[in-house]
Amino acid sequence: MSIFNETVSRRKSQSFKWDQMEKIYNIPDASDILPMWVADMDFAAPKEVIEAIEKRLQHPVFGYSYVCDGCKDAIVQWFERRYNWTIDLQSILFHHGVVPAIASIIETFTAPGDKVAISTPVYPPFFNIPTAQGRVVEACDLVEKNGSYVFDFAALEETFKRGVRMYILCNPHNPAGVVWSREDLEQLVSLCIQYEVYLLSDEIHADIIFDNKKYVPILTVKDAEKAKIISCIAPTKTFNLAGIQAAMMVVPNSKLLAQLELNAQAHGQMALNAFASAAVQAAYSHGEAWLDKLISYLSINMAYVLKELNALEGISVTQPDGTYLLWIDYRQTGLSENDIMERLLTKGKLALEPGTKYGQAGEGFLRMNVACSLATVQEGVSRFKQALA
Ligand SMILES: Cc1ncc(COP(=O)(O)O)c(C=O)c1O
Repeated sequence: MSIFNETVSRRKSQSFKWDQMEKIYNIPDASDILPMWVADMDFAAPKEVIEAIEKRLQHPVFGYSYVCDGCKDAIVQWFERRYNWTIDLQSILFHHGVVPAIASIIETFTAPGDKVAISTPVYPPFFNIPTAQGRVVEACDLVEKNGSYVFDFAALEETFKRGVRMYILCNPHNPAGVVWSREDLEQLVSLCIQYEVYLLSDEIHADIIFDNKKYVPILTVKDAEKAKIISCIAPTKTFNLAGIQAAMMVVPNSKLLAQLELNAQAHGQMALNAFASAAVQAAYSHGEAWLDKLISYLSINMAYVLKELNALEGISVTQPDGTYLLWIDYRQTGLSENDIMERLLTKGKLALEPGTKYGQAGEGFLRMNVACSLATVQEGVSRFKQALA
């Protein structure tokens, strides 16, 4: 029996996903609603990570701490071993999340009024953060192909010609689960070099990849060293540690690194706290077998949902290359987003994310998170059917 079959109750654990639905969905009572929205998992973290935090807790003094070399080595070895990516220890800058790292990167390299380009539909902070910082977001839609998405490089180039300062890449892509190919990334890097665009690559979903797909770190593609690239990585999606808050920026260009360090100083930003650092080290040192099992388990969940939902009239879902997220196309049902959300919440008692949360290009889609036990996934599918019945 898989360890992932075990259902851990998360209600009343200050879980955003389970305990904040009333607020987010504007409903009086969500106690009977099944949440399959926020991108975290309902699984317990690897036991080695829990033990490492417990071990740190046994020392009763919680004074200032630093991230030890052992932790940095564990990060470097993980990416070397799994992706053949050699990260220079000196190029790592810690932050307490990829989202705050994105905010810091945008603030450092762009000015109010500058244009920041993104490919939509995409993770909301990609447009919310630049907008909140007074930057102008240039959304260039991805193009649908065979139930997935591809870049429209001609349109992206036209956007860059209009004077874009930064492009934010999501690789693997949230919400569509696309793992971009080396060729795609090379083309993107080449455009960024040609138009002198900073390239921020959010690679938080790097480790959850299916079948024979391959995650390619942006910093390993041809000519990457000639571009102004900042890559963001983290163990928090991989090992379900988002509440612990930890992320790394990888910045091989020492000039860019110095600018980001100055920005961190401007905000009094410190490295990881003692527990986060223990968790990161343990996850990257001992989490590999757990991750392999997780990916196999998620594949089963994915296959189940695909089979069941694709049998429904008007619904179409494609197997993603990576992530534990499904991007469900309901356009053929003829339902509006309000209608389907209303049906899901009231008839189905199921909380999914509406596609337009990811930009207008997400209209007609829903995002479903299948990182929970197969029994919960089955319950979710049954509720989905109930909602559409
Ligand atoms: C693409 C992407 N980036 C960043 C995050 C969140 O990063 P963090 O929790 O490290 O701020 C998420 C979470 O869903 C995500 O999907």
